Amino acid sequence: MFSQLPEYTGDPILSLQQVYQNDVRPDKVNLGIGVYQDELGRIPTLECVRLARQRLASGSEPCVYLPMQGSTSYRGAVQSLVFGGEAPILQAGRVATVQSVGGSGALKVGSDVLRQLFPRSSVRVSNPTWDNHRAIFEGSGFAVGVYPYFDESTGTVDFNALLECLQALPAQTILVLHPCCHNPTGADLSMRQWDEVVSLVVARQLIPFLDMAYQGLGQSLDEDCYLARALVRAGCSFLLATSFSKTFSLYGERCGSLSMVCADAPEAGRALGQMQQAVRRNYSSPPVGGARVVETILLDPPLRQLWESEVRGMRERIQAMRVLLHGKLAALGPGRDWGFLLTQRGMFSYAPALAARADELRDRHAVYMVATGRLCMAGLNPGNADRVALALSAC
Ligand code: LMR
Repeated sequence: MFSQLPEYTGDPILSLQQVYQNDVRPDKVNLGIGVYQDELGRIPTLECVRLARQRLASGSEPCVYLPMQGSTSYRGAVQSLVFGGEAPILQAGRVATVQSVGGSGALKVGSDVLRQLFPRSSVRVSNPTWDNHRAIFEGSGFAVGVYPYFDESTGTVDFNALLECLQALPAQTILVLHPCCHNPTGADLSMRQWDEVVSLVVARQLIPFLDMAYQGLGQSLDEDCYLARALVRAGCSFLLATSFSKTFSLYGERCGSLSMVCADAPEAGRALGQMQQAVRRNYSSPPVGGARVVETILLDPPLRQLWESEVRGMRERIQAMRVLLHGKLAALGPGRDWGFLLTQRGMFSYAPALAARADELRDRHAVYMVATGRLCMAGLNPGNADRVALALSAC
């Protein structure tokens, strides 16, 4: 029956993670998957999460099905976090939000909703982008193209090429944007550059779909929402996927959200209905456990304050690791410019020039990075930076 099944070629990130886990070398370094590790190379349990779990453990609530859209208090907490607590757009009921199965679940639900509504639209993702973007939108039936994004010679955004492309896109093209901590490049737009993109989005009647999996790991929880809030100010309708995997260190709980920003409350009501339908068709309703932890933290002022300081701690540690690695590499090979490590933000840095050396880095030095040249800066620590610097400079 199944003899014709083709081999799965694997996923560039998740399959690499399996290889890493099976690697028995004690000094292996994981700069592959986008997972935050602390200064001892451990995936942390945040203190706010530990306290919230403790509090929840004393309750004996039954584990019933959540509604298709998820927990009401979770959805409200997410809206305030992204759009600002007192945002007029929330008071006006113009945002419809569902709890999702991680950021990927949010992208899938949004992509299915858009496919029903705009069957003739196509999707543009940045070149490069997170590998799964293309797969998710193609999975909903869209044709997926790219827009220029990264300038390899500077390690920054090729902003002129990006604008030129946006100017030529047909109306109702779906534009997938990374509001902060671009994955995989770590190269972000400045606020002024986002303003220009927003003007073009309005002028060209594009449909922005923001994928924000790293809120708080770029500049701050608020500043990282600049694009979302600028789109609101410009009167745009758009979609926004978020994830709490990284910022709560709750990867396996699959906590995320999808919001649709609409013209008015009745439209938002219909948007919620379409998202509910897409959820029902895909997985019926979201899981309970992680969302309870997240909403407990976001809605309790002392726990919320603790969480914000823990996110700041992660962000500052990653930044410190960028400086540390850059210093070591500069000392080892003054001829080569590693400055991109300092200008890129968030979990990742991107060095396509190293792509051809990914296998050698892994096999000879036990340093794992994604084959495209993406390095997860959050996998660095003072104990492995020397080895990583030596391995990279030998490439
Ligand atoms: C990553 O980019 O490494 C993470 O978001 C994990 C994933 O699902 O790819």
